[in-house]
Amino acid sequence: MSTEESPTAEAATAPELFPRRLWDEINDLGLQRYIEDLDAQGYTVVPPEIANPDGLADRMLEACLDIAERRTGERPDLERGRSEGPFDSPVGDTMKALLLEDPVFEESLMNPALLALATYLCGYDVVLSSLTSFMKGPSKTRFQLHTDTRLPSPLPTQALLCKGIYLLTDFNRDNGSTAFVPGSHRWCRNPDASETSIGEGGNDQAVPVEAPAGSLLVFHGNTWHGAYNRLVPGLRVSVHLLMVRSLLRATEDFIGRIPQRALDRNRPRFAILTQQGVVPGYIDKDDERAKVVRAQRFVSAYEKDSGVKLPAKR
Ligand SMILES: [Fe+2]
Repeated sequence: MSTEESPTAEAATAPELFPRRLWDEINDLGLQRYIEDLDAQGYTVVPPEIANPDGLADRMLEACLDIAERRTGERPDLERGRSEGPFDSPVGDTMKALLLEDPVFEESLMNPALLALATYLCGYDVVLSSLTSFMKGPSKTRFQLHTDTRLPSPLPTQALLCKGIYLLTDFNRDNGSTAFVPGSHRWCRNPDASETSIGEGGNDQAVPVEAPAGSLLVFHGNTWHGAYNRLVPGLRVSVHLLMVRSLLRATEDFIGRIPQRALDRNRPRFAILTQQGVVPGYIDKDDERAKVVRAQRFVSAYEKDSGVKLPAKR
């Protein structure tokens, strides 16, 4: 797809500013209409035939159930399970810091469809901020509409961050689906208190995501979203990858913490995605030099492998 044919002509971001190679990736993966969704609605749902290579979602689901069993001593029951804990939780049981728990999560990060959409929103230097799973049972507490761009309004036009959600079980309203207000990313503001409620008597602009397990949901950090309460027994399971521009502070700290075997079994972009190309805070000139040299090693390896030129490191 040429930049002239790009569906982003109406978008706030000028298509001619995007590298040609990104349009080629989008075209090769058949993602053009999902880019149009991102521009128009602020979110998109990529179907399993594109987003779920080699049964990725089923393998992630098994890994999540295994990890939950290891952590709690009990395997969650997808059909009859409930969110546990002392509070009625609108998000369910949360398992954090999963990236290094199983190689399937590395695969979820390196999934070409996710990377093309995250790159479209946040650039080739985008990094993983967190990788978290949610297992959500029936609840009453409402999960209100919000943006993930944690800044006071007005919000910047360009996405500072984006989120990819792998649907590991079917999503629909009764199952406790994610809710979006289509087009709200363009408003560049957080919802007022009167606009945040979802469900009965709530914001009537919110719509549920209806999509099968194996789909991938991606959204702009400015898009208003929340979730419907689950009304039926059992668990809704999902894995969420928060992706941010590399100049932002990430939630999880991966710098210097990725095992060499994980770096070795992935392409050099994996190191960039796991923050190895980011220069962390330094304490003096020598410390700065050492950190810059280390980061530059990963940046150079990625640039050589991909032909992409990343923004200069600070
Ligand atoms: Fe959120």
